[in-house]
Amino acid sequence: MRKPFIAGNWKMFKTISEARAFAEEFKELYRASDVRVAIFAPYLQLAALKEAFCGTYIEVGAQNMHFAEEGAYTGEISARMLREIGITCCIIGHSERRQYFGETDETVNRKLRKAFQEKMKPVLCVGESLEERDGGSAFSVVRSQLANGLIGLTAAEVSALVIAYEPVWAIGTGRTASAEQANEMCGFIRDVLEELYDDSVSCSTVILYGGSVKPENAGEIMNMEEIDGALVGGASLSPQEFIQIVNF
Ligand code: 13P
Repeated sequence: MRKPFIAGNWKMFKTISEARAFAEEFKELYRASDVRVAIFAPYLQLAALKEAFCGTYIEVGAQNMHFAEEGAYTGEISARMLREIGITCCIIGHSERRQYFGETDETVNRKLRKAFQEKMKPVLCVGESLEERDGGSAFSVVRSQLANGLIGLTAAEVSALVIAYEPVWAIGTGRTASAEQANEMCGFIRDVLEELYDDSVSCSTVILYGGSVKPENAGEIMNMEEIDGALVGGASLSPQEFIQIVNF
């Protein structure tokens, strides 16, 4: 059975003191349930959030990591550095990293392999741009992001992977994909997993939708058959809004 998963991606928002204030307020509102909950925060806030959420089921993850063990990569963070402070999950290949920081399917693939080698639980992001959606290539773009991103990963690894479908045109724009559009692409991702692996991988991989998820549309999205959860940007910055999504 796939467990519902609601994850917040804070992107480049909140200082350490703001992160602590969020955690204190969110802990008051949060009740443990069968929904997996995580906050993906900027690197500097991770240790403070781990400490603040200690003793709860709320997980804390990073938004990126490097694929190398260590080396001359100024400004980068390794999986081992994250592990040392107790961080075991990480977003990989977010569209903003692909768009602004030169992330490619190849770097995504190297990062995924490294993440599994280091026993990290990655969340792989895929999704098409507006031009690709309007030009009719959304499905082929997502297929190729998966086929190239997953090269060399085993069936067991991909079963443990979380995949987030985030259409670039719906991120931060207030323009949400309809629940049907999101469900259709998440179903397509399962078909590709079945093609690349097998039916059991396709049934066990947790697939999220991300892009302008808010308290008002979370319920409808979570009701869709192929969608197991949400990756929430803007609405995860407010404890009041995020808890409503967690309690969809
Ligand atoms: P928004 O929810 O702000 O549209 O961001 C979505 C996202 O990119 C989550 O990773």
